Amino acid sequence: MPLPTVPYHVETLSDQEHLARAQRFYELVNQRRTVREFSDRPIPDGVLEQCLLAAGTAPSGAHKQPWRFVVVQDPAVKKAIREAAEKEEHDNYEWRMSEAWKRDLEPLGTDEHKPFLEIAPALVVVMALKHGDAGPEAMHYYVQESVGIATGMLISAIHAAGLATLTHTPSPMGFLQKVLNRPSHERPFVLLPVGYPAEGCQVPDLHRKSLDEISVWL
Ligand SMILES: Cc1cc2nc3c(=O)[nH]c(=O)nc-3n(C[C@H](O)[C@H](O)[C@H](O)COP(=O)(O)O)c2cc1C
Repeated sequence: MPLPTVPYHVETLSDQEHLARAQRFYELVNQRRTVREFSDRPIPDGVLEQCLLAAGTAPSGAHKQPWRFVVVQDPAVKKAIREAAEKEEHDNYEWRMSEAWKRDLEPLGTDEHKPFLEIAPALVVVMALKHGDAGPEAMHYYVQESVGIATGMLISAIHAAGLATLTHTPSPMGFLQKVLNRPSHERPFVLLPVGYPAEGCQVPDLHRKSLDEISVWL
């Protein structure tokens, strides 16, 4: 049965205001950078909760909202995650990654050492739910796409709140399910350390593709 409906409106704006808003949003997100050096400064109360609520507004296949955000602040759990992640990353850099992949990572200066997993005040592990908590009959659809969109919104919300994050994929990420004691239908999707950049933090001087490169207009 279809749900009852409610009226939906967008604000009435002038053409200039539409453009100004689009520009302001672009300027905001264009300042976001992936940070790999964190301070241990605590996150003010309530900020992460609001960011997670923002992520939870993401569209999802058949509105199944196939995500769960596991927030880790306990130093012992962060340490366990760091140890397991560094073990996987050691194998990645040692023999799992192709030479081409390692060459592509070289400009970013990443390696198998992940101290930020203990230093950042919070780690948000985004879980993709293969099916609903009720069991496999509670089907989910377009899980990857839905969780990817929610993660993008979470990253943007963290940035808009004045915090920094890193999109981290210490793959394979199966260890997170064990360390976090999560059920088998929750698959680790991405790990986001969240906090403030360390004093003197530097990021690679990257350039983003132009509008011409990223779009085709027909
Ligand atoms: C799916 C995905 C996985 C990533 N995994 C890692 C990672 O494991 N470690 C890391 O240092 N950066 C990782 N990154 C961050 C990218 O390197 C970064 O987004 C890219 O270099 C562009 O930099 P920017 O985010 O500052 O614009 C990942 C990004 C994405 C989207």
